[in-house]
Amino acid sequence: WPRTSERIAGSLTIGGLDVRDLAKEFGTPLYVLDEHDFRAHAIDFRQAFHDGDVHYAGKAFLCREVARWIMQEGLGLDVCSAGELAVALSVGFPPDRITMHGNNKSIAELEKAVTVGVGHVVVDSFEEIARLGYLAEKHGARPKVLIRVTVGVEAHTHEFIATAHDDQKFGLSLSSGAAAEAARRILAMPSLELVGLHSHIGSQITDTAGFEVAARRLATLLVQIRDEHGVVLPELDLGGGYGIPYVDGDESPDMKVIADALREIVTTVCQSKGLPVPRLTVEPGRSIVGTAGVTLYEVGTVKDVEGLRTYVSVDGGMSDNVRTALYGADYTARLASRESTAAPMLSRLVGKHCESGDIVVRDLYLPADLVPGDLIAVAATGAYCRSLASNYNYLPKPAVVAVAGGKARVIVARETEEDLLRGQL
Ligand code: LLP
Repeated sequence: WPRTSERIAGSLTIGGLDVRDLAKEFGTPLYVLDEHDFRAHAIDFRQAFHDGDVHYAGKAFLCREVARWIMQEGLGLDVCSAGELAVALSVGFPPDRITMHGNNKSIAELEKAVTVGVGHVVVDSFEEIARLGYLAEKHGARPKVLIRVTVGVEAHTHEFIATAHDDQKFGLSLSSGAAAEAARRILAMPSLELVGLHSHIGSQITDTAGFEVAARRLATLLVQIRDEHGVVLPELDLGGGYGIPYVDGDESPDMKVIADALREIVTTVCQSKGLPVPRLTVEPGRSIVGTAGVTLYEVGTVKDVEGLRTYVSVDGGMSDNVRTALYGADYTARLASRESTAAPMLSRLVGKHCESGDIVVRDLYLPADLVPGDLIAVAATGAYCRSLASNYNYLPKPAVVAVAGGKARVIVARETEEDLLRGQL
């Protein structure tokens, strides 16, 4: 739950506002974003990496207002499409604090990155090195480039969000020598400035060992590049992926501990080989925005399936949170509109979509006196819920409301039927 949330007499307040009032004013389903919680996490990261850079990963959740918060807190931004870049530029985000990612950036995306002057482009393939080199030369630019290195770490997370083992689409492999070959090719291109290496091992990772192995392997590759080419690369970008608590008992790594450990590993490797210690960057997404978000739903039906469980249907579902269906994610939810002393009943919180995989929370206990009209709040939906939202079954995407100091503002409007019909013949 967000830092400013409080449970008062059966209701729930976030940012000093009662969720019942939020639901009444803005409707449901509703994404509520605690601005204080978001900013506090951004500040924690900045302090933990005071001698490096923190780039918020916009894929977790980005909109114009969030881009402003990131800008105000002094963080950089990681974008992975022209669309994310456009959101950032539309609020005057300084391009030199933006890193452009993606395993298959289009020519138009690369050209945009070069012409607006993004701070870094992370190259992910040999084709891309050639394309970027050509485009940079064409525009008389010399972008700073990082090589995305597949470091061969098996991250302990869901298969779909593990990204540093060899058999997946991202990056240039360390073990096969592709990453070293990429360095050789970039260094031979006068229009590209190779400044460092990048790795991102996966997402929702709570065991910090993988980050440390990745950092050690990247630092070792820096040494190898110095030995082979006589070039000292000044930067290492260690990606994001820090896990957050979703349900009781979930561990979440302490950023300060991680920052100290990563710094020490990189320093030890580099100093032992007489290499200057590079500047570190991290790219957290979920761990900044995840716990700041709460989704509010209204209960529509309560169906007791004799002897098994009770199905509680709410007015959204897999279109506003696909993570349960896609990754088997687990969430915490609670009745948020009144006090109940009823016995707990084994429930499944489900949506209103036309398939049985449309589950928000697979197994949870809700009070047995639940009735239509009750409000349910689901915690930690700030990351990868609105950004992965769809219009499945032509449901409009819910609004995002930012709350702070007893005030609420719509930062992304609820879609309307008109939005749904736009652009159709
Ligand atoms: N940097 C790069 C290059 C990334 O690919 C990602 C996430 C991040 C940083 C930020 O990772 P974070 O700190 O948020 O874990 N949709 C999935 C997560 C996909 C993550 C993709 N890349 C989910 O809902 O769990």
